[in-house]
Amino acid sequence: MKQNLLQAPVAVPTYDRSKLVTRIVHLGFGAFHRAHQAVYADILATEHGSDWGYCEVNLIGGEQLIKDLKAQDMLYSVSEMAAEGWSSRVIGVARRALYAESDGINTVLEAMAQPEIAIVSITITEKGYCYQPATGTLITEHPLIQHDIANPAAPKSAAGTIVQALRLRRDRGLKAFTVMSCDNMPENGHVTRNVILGLARIQDADLADWIAANVSFPSTMVDRIVPAVTPETLEKITQLLGGIQDPAGVACEPFRQWVIEDNFVNGRPEWEKAGAELVNDVLPFEEMKLRMLNGSHSFLAYLGYLAGYQHINDCMQDDNYVIAARHLMLNEQAPTLRTQGVDLAAYADSLLHRYRNTALKHRTWQIAMDGTQKLPQRMLDSVRYHLAHNSNFDCLALGIAAWIRYVGSVDEQGQPIDVSDPLLEQLKALVNGSPQGTERVKALLSLETVFGKELPQNPRFVSAVTDAYLNLLKNGARESVAQLVKGF
Ligand SMILES: NC(=O)c1ccc[n+]([C@@H]2O[C@H](COP(=O)([O-])OP(=O)(O)OC[C@H]3O[C@@H](n4cnc5c(N)ncnc54)[C@H](O)[C@@H]3O)[C@@H](O)[C@H]2O)c1
Repeated sequence: MKQNLLQAPVAVPTYDRSKLVTRIVHLGFGAFHRAHQAVYADILATEHGSDWGYCEVNLIGGEQLIKDLKAQDMLYSVSEMAAEGWSSRVIGVARRALYAESDGINTVLEAMAQPEIAIVSITITEKGYCYQPATGTLITEHPLIQHDIANPAAPKSAAGTIVQALRLRRDRGLKAFTVMSCDNMPENGHVTRNVILGLARIQDADLADWIAANVSFPSTMVDRIVPAVTPETLEKITQLLGGIQDPAGVACEPFRQWVIEDNFVNGRPEWEKAGAELVNDVLPFEEMKLRMLNGSHSFLAYLGYLAGYQHINDCMQDDNYVIAARHLMLNEQAPTLRTQGVDLAAYADSLLHRYRNTALKHRTWQIAMDGTQKLPQRMLDSVRYHLAHNSNFDCLALGIAAWIRYVGSVDEQGQPIDVSDPLLEQLKALVNGSPQGTERVKALLSLETVFGKELPQNPRFVSAVTDAYLNLLKNGARESVAQLVKGF
């Protein structure tokens, strides 16, 4: 992509890119970062003279994207998909791009050890943290972590890479950087701190103390729906760019939101000027978004996929799914939240409005992936609330039952489901080792890293999920949702 070949109405960088300073290393140059944090930085550079630039890094996966970015002078486009039409913007804030394997992990570590680096931000998916979703702590026996314990100077995991980069900074007398997670986990800063300090503590107690004293791990709540890029998306982007191909291009919904805990040890961009909210405590916002948006997304993804709905907007064509999703948000998720002064009914309606966007084509299959990493924060924390308060959680029970049905790997028409999950082997063993029905539910609920120790022992929880599961087997997803809605 050459910037001077682009025609209006595509917005192109109007700032002097050579004046940008690479102050942020971002790990996880995937769809989301390109359409979210990088857009905020681009707005700041365009409208407020900010000189904060990025070094984009992929550690595992995404090699081609890094190659594409390098091949087009670090430029790529973000297109906003509104039902009424699309608009594009070329993002110019990336200054460098590295892939760990081909560029070498030392190059990545040196980039992170540059004196100007103030922030290392991350979007590496929940599984990239090598943590136990049920406890939020490091899985020390994870193969990547085992590798990094044995080879601290040549790490493979994100945590190992950050620990080693911090070691270099400490040894060179440089200031530490802030580590900012932008992944969908509750208290994502806390989880990041746990895994980084957990690994550092095993490797070098002095280093762990230095990190604890010098590094901050702000939590963030991030929101913008960015579906995985498809060949159709790229074709549409080419049209928008007047025939120019942009293999690093990405498309997303128009909405964007970012709430950031204002806790940075080495400076930060003035993100508030681009619409971010800098607050003292992000947790209430994170929980609101994780439970109402992501929780209803997962509910729609499993029940939608099983019903043959390929996209979230297809689910929105079925009135029962809309009613169920709204009920889940307002009756089973909202009561568990600590947010104050937010109109949750209006928030639920705005989410349903976003889900209806026919241009978005967000695949239920994509949202359904990595369920073992997502269920705890999206559904199970709320279930615990209802068990403690003796309140109703029928939608959550059906959502969990639909996940169990989904990971059974055979859909309602007898066709195989391509289940993608870091615990796939464990899931397969549990599915293959249990007969269909009540025993299958029991087997899946025994997964301690997801459900913890107490939930599978709770008779109310087990019977609610089992009843929903048996009903799903008997009547299918559409009818189960219809019956659920009749009971409201
Ligand atoms: N896409 C969205 O709509 C959206 C919205 C809000 C938050 N998020 C967050 O962003 C994350 C990434 O989403 P995406 O759409 O960019 O996905 P993606 O598949 O496009 O990108 C995934 C990124 O994670 C990296 N990665 C994967 N496994 C890794 C590992 N084990 N170690 C290190 N890096 C690893 C890859 O290199 C890649 O850069 C999500 O999991 C979620 O936490 C996404």
